[in-house]
Amino acid sequence: MNKTAACSLILASAVLISGCGAGSPQNTEKDDSVITIGFSQVGEESDWRRANSESIEETFSAKNGYHLLFDDAQNRPENQITALRNFIQQEVDYIVLEPIVEQGWETVLTEAKEAGIPVIVADRSISVEDESLFTAWVGSDMLLEGRKTSEWLHSFIEAKGIDDSEVRLVNIQGTLGSTPQIGRAQGMREAAKKYGWTLLGSARGEFTTAKGREAMESLLERFDDINVVFCDNDNEAYGAIDAIEKAGRKAGTDIANGEILIISYDAASRGLQLVLNGKIACDGDCNPLHGPRIRDIIESLEAGKEVGKYWYVEEELYAGDDTVCSVTIDETEYPVTVVTEELIAERKY
Ligand code: AHR
Repeated sequence: MNKTAACSLILASAVLISGCGAGSPQNTEKDDSVITIGFSQVGEESDWRRANSESIEETFSAKNGYHLLFDDAQNRPENQITALRNFIQQEVDYIVLEPIVEQGWETVLTEAKEAGIPVIVADRSISVEDESLFTAWVGSDMLLEGRKTSEWLHSFIEAKGIDDSEVRLVNIQGTLGSTPQIGRAQGMREAAKKYGWTLLGSARGEFTTAKGREAMESLLERFDDINVVFCDNDNEAYGAIDAIEKAGRKAGTDIANGEILIISYDAASRGLQLVLNGKIACDGDCNPLHGPRIRDIIESLEAGKEVGKYWYVEEELYAGDDTVCSVTIDETEYPVTVVTEELIAERKY
């Protein structure tokens, strides 16, 4: 069974949304049989993002009864604010926001609320005091992702007879202030403190291959004893591996013999191939296929049904071998899946 397809509804925060679709401003020239969605996308920085955009476009197609206004913010938060204002002016039925960063949403979301347009936040989170500014959120628990990969690292090196005090790690950061950067770094920092790992330094990789390469190059110049790299996504890992190899080093799990162990996130098929090839040691799943999940929320709202506020996607943890079979976080055990050719062939992104 594909666990990632399942969303869990947090009942405690369920809210009653009545007539949200019907409550949006009426434009007499609008075709009421078509639902207009204003979608604000982050950019095109990664394999993950491309798969995510495709999922949205496939789901909210004209064939499926939707009119999709797709805006690519090119990783600039100010572009997202402008896009949302344009959607409000155009009296869309719903705004779907995949926020670049967590902060800075109060004003424009208040404008959307005053216009009666429901806002669904997806993928990353927003930080707002007034949670009535958005109708629902669907995405990944990025802190849990960071905790899972960190526990995997601790168990893996322990199984190899390496002491935690020997871990000298660096972090290639995604966009500063974004939920995956904040959550994954927090998980890693908590573990570094708990186990006594040395965090040598960080550099910005912006979730892209090119910046990941540059970041790794600069980290290798600054520190000659790096043995672990936490990349904030697979694209950064692709670039980091290039830089490591260009510097005459090897990406792998044998850190006792000079290899550099790479932790990554997304588990896109290219990333999983690198896990299979031994270059990425552990890859935390981050599922981008949010289109159908957002559609389910919109359909419920259209039907006047009660919807939960927070929808978390269940995610896997992948490694190249079975040295670590599972990790336990807050008394919940999460299995580690060993990557195979078959698994990669079935991967949708
Ligand atoms: O918010 C999801 C993250 O953003 C993914 O890890 C990354 O690839 C993307 O750019």
